[in-house]
Amino acid sequence: MSYTSSQVIVLPQTKQLQAMLTIIRDKNTQRADFIFYSDRIIRILVEEGLNHLPVVEKIVTTPTGKEFKGIDFQGRICGVSIMRAGESMEQGLRDVCRSVRIGKILIQRDEETALPKLYYAKFPPDIASRYCLLLDPMLATGGSAIKAIETLIEYGVPEERILFLNLIACPEGIKAVVDKFPTMKIVTAGIDQGLDDKLYINPGLGDFGCRYFGTD
Ligand code: URA
Repeated sequence: MSYTSSQVIVLPQTKQLQAMLTIIRDKNTQRADFIFYSDRIIRILVEEGLNHLPVVEKIVTTPTGKEFKGIDFQGRICGVSIMRAGESMEQGLRDVCRSVRIGKILIQRDEETALPKLYYAKFPPDIASRYCLLLDPMLATGGSAIKAIETLIEYGVPEERILFLNLIACPEGIKAVVDKFPTMKIVTAGIDQGLDDKLYINPGLGDFGCRYFGTD
């Protein structure tokens, strides 16, 4: 697979992160803990994602009367969650970015063609001028992500302003996405072995949306 570490950013595998990933992978983890630790990981993903946005120099004066040469964020952002599982990542984005605008996109497999089909998209009207944090916890085949990215590009968002945040990715999904979109970035907490015959990520954590939202 050919991609650079500046295109696919894997969170530093600290002991805290490894322990949290272990908890959410465990099939015996109760839902409250699943939500709590997923939310903690999502928060780290969002913080890391924001590190890849541009900044400009900013000089401030401190209470001691001295100048401090620092930086300021440049550019505006918005979140776009891929329904339904991606909605679990919205609060983590709001916790870090006050009043952030969040669009939504619903993609499902078309029963006739078996291809991912766009059913619903609602974005901030000025999305084309924003950096987009695309939210989906699992990058499996990449089918939904590709459709979502194509839709953002149709709405005028330059590919290089899209950052895709997810908890667990796999080589098949990463390859599908980066082959098609070589200038966007993926930020993930871990890359697993691959997909099984039911297209679940292995070892993975099962169905993220069902475990997070408590459905079958
Ligand atoms: N979506 C999930 O929730 N889990 C997987 O393993 C793959 C896609």
